[in-house]
Amino acid sequence: MTLYQIDFEPVGRRGECRDNESFLACARRLGVGIISLCGGKGTCHSCKVQILTGNVSQPTSNELEALSSQELKDGWRLACQTYPISDCKVSVPAESVTTPQRIQVEGLEITVHPEPLVRAYRLQLPPPSLSDPRADADRLLQVLNQQHQLHCSQVDIDALRILSPRLRSWNWQCQATVRNDEVIALSPWPRPQLGLAIDLGTTKIAGYLVDLSDGRTLAAKGIMNPQISYGEDIISRITSIIDSPAKSAKLQKLVVDGLNELANDLCTEVGAKTAEIVEAVVVGNTAMHHLFLSLPVRQLAYSPFVPAVSRALDTKARDLGLHMASGAYVHLLPNIAGFVGADHVAMLLATELWQAEGPTVAIDIGTNTEVSLVNSGEITTVSCASGPAFEGGHIKDGMRAASGAIERLRIANDSIQYQTIDDVPPVGICGSGIVDAMAQLYLVGIIDKHGRMKDNHPRLRTHKKQRQFVLVSEEERDGRSAIVITQQDVRELQLAKAAIRTGIQILLETKGCSEEEIKLVIIAGAFGTYINVSSAITIGMLPPLPLDRFRQVGNAAGIGAKLALVSGSKRAKAQKIASRVHYIELATAPNFMSTFSQASYIGRYRMRRGKREEIG
Ligand code: FES
Repeated sequence: MTLYQIDFEPVGRRGECRDNESFLACARRLGVGIISLCGGKGTCHSCKVQILTGNVSQPTSNELEALSSQELKDGWRLACQTYPISDCKVSVPAESVTTPQRIQVEGLEITVHPEPLVRAYRLQLPPPSLSDPRADADRLLQVLNQQHQLHCSQVDIDALRILSPRLRSWNWQCQATVRNDEVIALSPWPRPQLGLAIDLGTTKIAGYLVDLSDGRTLAAKGIMNPQISYGEDIISRITSIIDSPAKSAKLQKLVVDGLNELANDLCTEVGAKTAEIVEAVVVGNTAMHHLFLSLPVRQLAYSPFVPAVSRALDTKARDLGLHMASGAYVHLLPNIAGFVGADHVAMLLATELWQAEGPTVAIDIGTNTEVSLVNSGEITTVSCASGPAFEGGHIKDGMRAASGAIERLRIANDSIQYQTIDDVPPVGICGSGIVDAMAQLYLVGIIDKHGRMKDNHPRLRTHKKQRQFVLVSEEERDGRSAIVITQQDVRELQLAKAAIRTGIQILLETKGCSEEEIKLVIIAGAFGTYINVSSAITIGMLPPLPLDRFRQVGNAAGIGAKLALVSGSKRAKAQKIASRVHYIELATAPNFMSTFSQASYIGRYRMRRGKREEIG
């Protein structure tokens, strides 16, 4: 085995790479985030890097398919397919980098009366004597129960380990942190009681540090899910564990390390310590929930897609590797089904949809999109495999919502007007930009309702036998490759948006409602917050309702996690919501295939019993 020095630019990360280690694996080990949608199989083409100096392995068949001869000549390669045979300098372009990315932590704030499950009590204990030789733990529990009318019966083992010396050094005064009938932490009086709410997404993680005494959010921050290096979508991660079960522990550790770093950053921002976090609530999709708890995930990948557990769970933070107060717990809200997790329950909790008057649709758009229809107190839910297109995956010049991504776009005659994130020169196009682009291409007649690209615009061209529309040309990018929307991209988006529209339609039909009856459509999640609803209607992704019936609510799952953190009754409500949800497996619905094929058409249309009625 030979070791080579690899220099990743422009991040400036340097390290050794074995001759049998791909650039992707090496980058991952050195903490350089390279997008790897397929988890390194060579099929997604998202891990493009440029070899600036040095010698590398011959291109594989996947690379010959993905890269033009000019690109290969210029040193472009797929990081997962390429191995060093000398020291190298490798450039990771912005479109291949996993960070930084816009991660949404904002959402509608709801005021809630705090009823935390964890409370702090001030104690003054009588010192022991020959006439009062009670054990320290008994003394603590008896005084606590007497002074505060409680029924505590146990002390966490880690708290017990420090109890005797600390009580003596604190002169028999202390603060006992109590959860149900257990003392979970001890400290000098007074110490803040902090809580941590986490929305654990497949791509992104949002964290909130909360003061449990009044429910205030003290700090909020988003990070990328570090498991991304093992595959962007959840199925790639599950597959990699099925192929190599030892990876389960690795993936669990990655996410826990990320959460510890996030908690530390949040605490540092407000001058607190992670040991002051006495409770956490975590919500995520079912697969993320299982990976976080080291539960088996194989059964999630195969029909009938059954979770190992769906009820709410409480577990000691230290057993998961989280750095919090000594005996602190993590509460996990209940899941609904294999592909509808606690994040959807949290979203329903935050939006208070169970109180909705008239049919209301709630959509959380992601690689997997969950849709619920709430009507007369009944909640019916489906999960749609919308795929990674809205995150820029499987789109030729797609990227996630990071600096330089085209996020808004308009076609005016022969020119393209666009807006990029951070107003910097464009490097690719993210989900909201792709939806705009498809709507604009349709409105100006460049694609027809079948999604076919015509031959009627100076920006249309054929490249590698495929039609493509040039959004930003090579000249406009000073010689760098053009940013285009290809015929294949349009097809990918048609599948993604058809999955969502089919989910909405099947729910409506199952419950005997029509589209016109929908009173409100709530769109949650980062992508959903930034899409132009009017463009989404134009491409047939959303039903053609008046715009004032749509509400984009931000990260409602994160808000739901915060509510469950500060309020025991909200936690109970979440359990009630989950048990009331009627889940429908979309593929088993009678009209599924006909609805899906109709929903792949572009344009504004209504759907009735799997039939499309164009409304112009
Ligand atoms: S092609 Fe390299 S990670 Fe998918």
